[in-house]
Amino acid sequence: MNRHAGFSAIAAVALALTASGCSNSSAASGEAAWDKLQELVADPGDWVTYGGTFDEQRFSPLDQITDANIGGLGLAWSHEFDTNRAQQSTPLEYQGVIYVTTAWSKVFALEAKSGKVLWSYDPEVPREFGAKGCCDVGNRGAAIYDGKLYFGAFDGRLIALDIKTGKPVWSVVTVDQSKTYTITGAPRIVKGKVVIGNGGAELGARGYVTAYDAQTGKQVWRFYTVPGNPADGPDNAASDKVLAEKADKTWFGDYWKTGGGGTVWDTIVYDRELDQLYIGVGNGSPWNHKVRSEGKGDNLFLSSIVALDPDTGAYRWHYQETPGDTWDYTATQGITLATLKIDGEPRKVLMHAPKNGFFFVIDRKDGKLLSARNFVKVNWATGYDLKTGRPIEDPKARYEGAAYVAVPGAVGAHNWQPMAFSPKTGLVYIPANNVLFGYEDPTEKFEVRPGRWNLGLKFKDTSPPDDPKAFQSVRDRLSGRLVAWNPVLQKEAWGFDYSEPWNGGVLTTAGNLVLQGDTKGNLRAFSADSGKVVWSANLGMAIMAPPVSFLVDGEQYIAVAGGYGGAYALTSSYNDSPAPRPNGRLFVFKLGGKAKLPAIAKFDAGPANPPAESFSPAQVAHGKELFERDCWVCHGSGAISSGVVPDLRRVGSLTSAEAWNAVVIGGALQERGMISFKQYLSAKDAEDLRAYVADRAKLLQKQERESSK
Ligand code: HEC
Repeated sequence: MNRHAGFSAIAAVALALTASGCSNSSAASGEAAWDKLQELVADPGDWVTYGGTFDEQRFSPLDQITDANIGGLGLAWSHEFDTNRAQQSTPLEYQGVIYVTTAWSKVFALEAKSGKVLWSYDPEVPREFGAKGCCDVGNRGAAIYDGKLYFGAFDGRLIALDIKTGKPVWSVVTVDQSKTYTITGAPRIVKGKVVIGNGGAELGARGYVTAYDAQTGKQVWRFYTVPGNPADGPDNAASDKVLAEKADKTWFGDYWKTGGGGTVWDTIVYDRELDQLYIGVGNGSPWNHKVRSEGKGDNLFLSSIVALDPDTGAYRWHYQETPGDTWDYTATQGITLATLKIDGEPRKVLMHAPKNGFFFVIDRKDGKLLSARNFVKVNWATGYDLKTGRPIEDPKARYEGAAYVAVPGAVGAHNWQPMAFSPKTGLVYIPANNVLFGYEDPTEKFEVRPGRWNLGLKFKDTSPPDDPKAFQSVRDRLSGRLVAWNPVLQKEAWGFDYSEPWNGGVLTTAGNLVLQGDTKGNLRAFSADSGKVVWSANLGMAIMAPPVSFLVDGEQYIAVAGGYGGAYALTSSYNDSPAPRPNGRLFVFKLGGKAKLPAIAKFDAGPANPPAESFSPAQVAHGKELFERDCWVCHGSGAISSGVVPDLRRVGSLTSAEAWNAVVIGGALQERGMISFKQYLSAKDAEDLRAYVADRAKLLQKQERESSK
């Protein structure tokens, strides 16, 4: 069955007729448009920005649906997307229309009451760009401003559509498309500008954010988060001064050969009270600090929050959460702004739960660390020194001389799934992960491989153990938890456990509710103050995306996108099931909703399909090395997949050297996101890879036979 059926563009209807040319009518004054957006954001009836408001608290003041009456919540309608790749979008709702982005950067406008498709837009991202992504081809959302809808396409374009018709107004390429940049994050609107970042630090990239004029797409400023090649001189960018003054001296060696990293792939938050923009900066590239920077220096501004002047992009302050990052501890996770009473004083703070497992409360004025405490179990650091703002590291954590299993691992104690803050309960609700990862120095000298993953680690031994008991014992150490965190006391108020990591983003509401989906397809509502489960429904597919809430004709709705995918889903061997996943879907609920939950396609994983021929142990061993270098990032470590992309132990092409070669070297499935590895692998390498996967398939077949006895 073709899981990726062709996308048919649907013509604009109804609304388009009344609205032609509307995008320019209000463009007369940029300031008026900006004032208008602030008014819209202040109205809780619509959900017009990524985080709900500029503070990005993901708190809806709507209170028709409460923890007392949510028993009556039912499905109003749902809409199936045309792909089973990652669904991570925060739907926006404005004037009765939902705008949702999906995998491969497609956009849909749906009537909020009925689910009728008003228009859709496919930027037709070339599918070979799929191989540039570290973490699937998802998209986290769009931005609304002055009659336009803005979103980033996976291939690095920033696109403005007419919000009524879905027709492109302008499009700019924000990256060097010959490099491995991608966009999965939502743009943000700040004072007439659209600000967008990018990703790519696993493969090799130099991070930056750019502000474009929202009307014209003309670049206003750019801020690079890490220094470039010293031989090239300054960038002529807003970051020149601070990189020269503060950052350059914190880097060593040939870091610029892989770009250094520091991509801003998710959080960008505007502080209206202090007229400041905060960006969350990503990990180092390569991950290993010894390989990247000779093991020396803090490597500013990796793993930092940086405050910028929104008009010019000039640096204001920074706080580095993980100096000299060597574990992929990004600081890109969602930033939430609030005023908290600390020691009796109201303080304007920024709250942050990055990958490294600590919850940070930071003074927004100057970036001073007020407090930090771990919100899950961690081993790499015992805490933070509040005087210096630096972590107190486990001396073994930097894997010098010996491998180190760090908790959290690279997936992070918290990833892109947004957290929420309720000003009513004073609690932050964090979709947390208990994960680990083994880090080890490479045995050979590190060579940059352009276009592929460049982590600077030894990868050979990361594949899962064959012994079922040993496998289960690793699996038992992986889990998820919804953590309700008191940011003033830096203490958990309540929590809810999941058997797997990678559960959904969070919404909290004035109806004393917290809503979150999980990997097993359950959407749950909790009492925000007590954590009691007050409602749940199984939607038939994993839910990673955060719910949102809004009013249509005075009635409160809740919407959430379902569908699996993303970094943990693709790379981990410990997912729930390797069976092909169903297409994603947007689900919309209201009190008294009577729609029937649709029958969600259920696929069988299918049996192991090892070829009859045998391969030499040397072939298998070499194939394993190549697999854990080039293939695991999509097909799962140890060739055990999550079903978002095929489980190779079961596919037909495994039994045919020719068919296998046609895909891996010949690029037969390039149009579906499986690139040709011709540049990186020989025909013999491809056959060795088949030998390794065949070996894995044989093991699986043996296990299947044993368990059916
Ligand atoms: C960037 C993600 C990505 C990477 C990396 C990747 N693949 Fe794939 N691969 C895919 C996707 C997506 C498909 C499914 C395409 C489709 O829908 O038919 C696929 C399909 C395949 C298939 C065809 C399976 C079938 O149905 O018969 C083979 C064989 C395969 N991959 C081998 C490999 C090998 C070997 C490597 C490493 C050298 C690799 N892949 C790396 C994404 C990836």
